[in-house]
Amino acid sequence: MRIRILGSGAGGGFPQWNCNCANCRAVRAGEAGFSARTQSSLAVSADGANWVLLNASPDLREQIAAAPQLAPAEGDPVRASPIKAVALTNGDVDHVAGLLNLREAQPFSVYAAGRVLSALAANPIFTILQPQLVPRMELPMDEAVPLHGAGVDLGLSIRAFPVPGKIALYLEDKSAPNFGTSAGDTLGLQIIEAKTGASFFYIPGCAKVDDALAARLRGAALVFFDGTLFHENEMIEQGLMGKTGSRMGHVNMSGADGSMAAFASLGVARKIYVHINNSNPVLNANSPEHAIARDAGWEIGADGMEVTL
Ligand code: MLT
Ligand code: MN
Ligand code: ZN
Repeated sequence: MRIRILGSGAGGGFPQWNCNCANCRAVRAGEAGFSARTQSSLAVSADGANWVLLNASPDLREQIAAAPQLAPAEGDPVRASPIKAVALTNGDVDHVAGLLNLREAQPFSVYAAGRVLSALAANPIFTILQPQLVPRMELPMDEAVPLHGAGVDLGLSIRAFPVPGKIALYLEDKSAPNFGTSAGDTLGLQIIEAKTGASFFYIPGCAKVDDALAARLRGAALVFFDGTLFHENEMIEQGLMGKTGSRMGHVNMSGADGSMAAFASLGVARKIYVHINNSNPVLNANSPEHAIARDAGWEIGADGMEVTL
């Protein structure tokens, strides 16, 4: 199974268009230790020819252009794409806006939780993806389903499961508990290769590594995990936004409740942070925080990084 990180940044990317934080300034200036990152997405293939995207970011056009595997192949019809399906972990702008880049009457399938499909259905701009070409399939919870799209069996199954999180920002109900979040608003995905049974997890948004999630991930071969923030308060401390990580539905890397501590005893063979916010000090490869994460056994995801499992 082949996996390519199309985008390793969080919403806004790195640098973010309107951000003048130290990291964004450094990456714009081309300082050593900093690399630009597009917004959160992976591409996965069992056969190298047919691909599923996990999330569709607003940067998808440039991500496809940078990925030779995602171009039409020589000998394909005049309109063709190796992208046969897209699976969504939530309804956030950084994970769904790229669907609009996939217009142009090309067949593929969209897989998402029922509540995310409702959010798409409520927004007529997505009808540009004609339903007869782009079927929308509801992901059942905790059940492996084979991925199909454009008449192709991708040779992969997907098992979606709810993780602690938050409803998409634009759907928040400020008067409701946890802003109106319910189970299924934030999913983890396990992708399983049919031929070998090999599997990995993709969890770009997660508010807490609870016991159920820890049990599920124990001993996994590979996990791509929410690397939004290093410190719970880093956006407040940098004067960027008055929100903690918890308020945004993202567990931080550091501290007793952080992801580094939570994964320390899980025996996950390969751990890669993705969805890294531009405020996160790990984005500076020469920072102490970067060294701490590496010493804890984590890789810092980067755009274009490829993993074969
Ligand atoms: C998030 O990951 O918290 C969201 O992408 C925030 C947003 O939609 O801006
Ligand atoms: Mn996001
Ligand atoms: Zn910034």
